[in-house]
Order: sequence, then C-alpha cells, then structure tokens
Amino acid sequence: MCGLTTWSPTFSSVTSGGASCQVGPSPTARAARLDNIRVHDPAEVAGLLGALPVAAPWDVSLDPADPALPLLRDAGFEPYASTFTVSRAIDGMPAAPGADGVRLLTYSNDMAERYEDAEWDALDGLATFKAMGRPTGYAQGAGQGDFTVALRGDRIIGFCFTQVPEGIVWWMAVVPDERQKGVGRMLLGSAARAVRLAGGTHLLADPEDTPDARAFTAALGFRHRGTRELLIKKA
Ligand SMILES: CC(C)(COP(=O)(O)OP(=O)(O)OC[C@H]1O[C@@H](n2cnc3c(N)ncnc32)[C@H](O)[C@@H]1OP(=O)(O)O)[C@@H](O)C(=O)NCCC(=O)NCCS
Repeated sequence: MCGLTTWSPTFSSVTSGGASCQVGPSPTARAARLDNIRVHDPAEVAGLLGALPVAAPWDVSLDPADPALPLLRDAGFEPYASTFTVSRAIDGMPAAPGADGVRLLTYSNDMAERYEDAEWDALDGLATFKAMGRPTGYAQGAGQGDFTVALRGDRIIGFCFTQVPEGIVWWMAVVPDERQKGVGRMLLGSAARAVRLAGGTHLLADPEDTPDARAFTAALGFRHRGTRELLIKKA
C-alpha cells in the first residue's frame, strides 16, 4: 500500500565508501525512499546520508533482521509502520462472486472528490496513510496502472490501484461499513484480470501489517513472504 508518486519512479544510485543505496520516491511516506541500503558502521551511515542528492525526510523498508536497522536507528531513523509481503499466482484464483448492489468502474479523475472521501474513510488510522499525508496523489491517478473503484450507488466504497503487468497492488482499501461483504475480493479479482490481460502472472502486495490485511490476504490464498520495518528520518 503506497503513494502514487512511487509509481513510474526514477531511482538514482548513491555510493559512499563501502555504503550504497538507491534513492526514489517512497511508496509509504512523504519522503525519499532509500532502497537496498548497505551500511556497515556509523561512519558509513553518516557518509551515505551526506552524499544523498535529496534532503530529508528519508525512509527505509527493511527486513527486521537487516544489520542496517540498528545503525539507522542510532542515526535518528524512527520506526513508523510494519508491513508484510505477500504474493500469489493469478492462475487458480477463484472468481469473485460479487457483492450485492456493488459495481466496479475504472477510475477517472472527475471522481476525485468522492474518491478522497472514500480514501479518508478507508485508510484513517493506518500509519502509512498518516505518513503519506494528503493529498496522496491517487485522486489524479487515472490512466496509470489499473485503477478500479467499487461503487454502491454513487458512493465510492473501495478502490484498488495495481501496477500492470507486474501485478503490484500499491493501494487498496474498502470503507469500514462495507467490509466483509466481498468488495475487496471483487476488486482484487478485477486487478487479477487486468494483470493477466497485460501478460502478468502474479499479484504482489506489501500491505501495512494489520489483522484485517492478514485475514484478507490469507483468505485470498496469498503466500506470506516476510515482514518489513519502515523507518523515517525527519527533516
Ligand atoms: C483488507 C480489506 C481491503 C478487505 O476488504 P473486504 O471488502 O472486507 O474483503 P472481503 O469482504 O472481500 O473479504 C474477502 C475474504 O477475506 C476475509 N476477511 C476480510 N477481512 C477479514 C477480517 N477482518 N477478519 C477475518 N476475515 C476477513 C473475508 O471473510 C473473506 O473471506 P471468504 O471470501 O473466504 O468468506 C479491508 O479490510 C481494508 O480496507 N482494510 C484497510 C486497508 C488495508 O489493509 N489495505 C490492504 C489490503 S491488502
């Protein structure tokens, strides 16, 4: 789950002594993401941060056992969320039965106001949504990736933004009063069809670690691939 700025990202590689990382937009915070960070001691951390082409805030997404994690904490990076990684093959995904009275539409930017209401309702309380700040950028995201919304009447009650053909589900939620009625399953079924049509074979996601996201991905047959700790160093 993540911010639209990250889709079609541009990355630059930074090295300093024995330290290195790639810098691009963060998918989960209003920050520059330091990916694949390699640092071995505090001096390397200081050197690498000093060599970055963009100012803080910076964030990282690390395996909890990554030796860089304590070094970055000592350098002022603070934990702000945990995520878990899941994936599954599209082949064999059962068809979604559909939720009563709910239709799916491709998102268009003229739905922005209704979309932002839904985004607020559906994501309120999630640490990554808080770290991204508003606007997230998705309200202007029509035409990029597969962006599908679920409507009951005129109200947007759910949304799913997926990078195709890679199948990365970047941003997906259902408003609380419409959960556990099959809307999430409908949205992912639609994403799976779009990915398959574009030649992709799998769905991948890295949602914030909550009981809802765990139960939902398990029910849909996703395989758990590990957890990540997100840390941010503020400006
Ligand atoms: C995760 C989320 C999208 C699920 O949406 P939803 O519309 O409630 O999901 P569905 O009703 O389609 O549920 C599909 C399956 O997951 C199960 N499920 C979903 N949430 C569950 C929960 N909290 N506890 C137990 N099971 C749950 C359903 O029972 C259903 O199983 P079944 O089809 O075998 O009966 C929704 O809870 C949400 O928006 N959470 C906040 C944002 C978030 O975590 N996004 C990341 C999604 S990967």
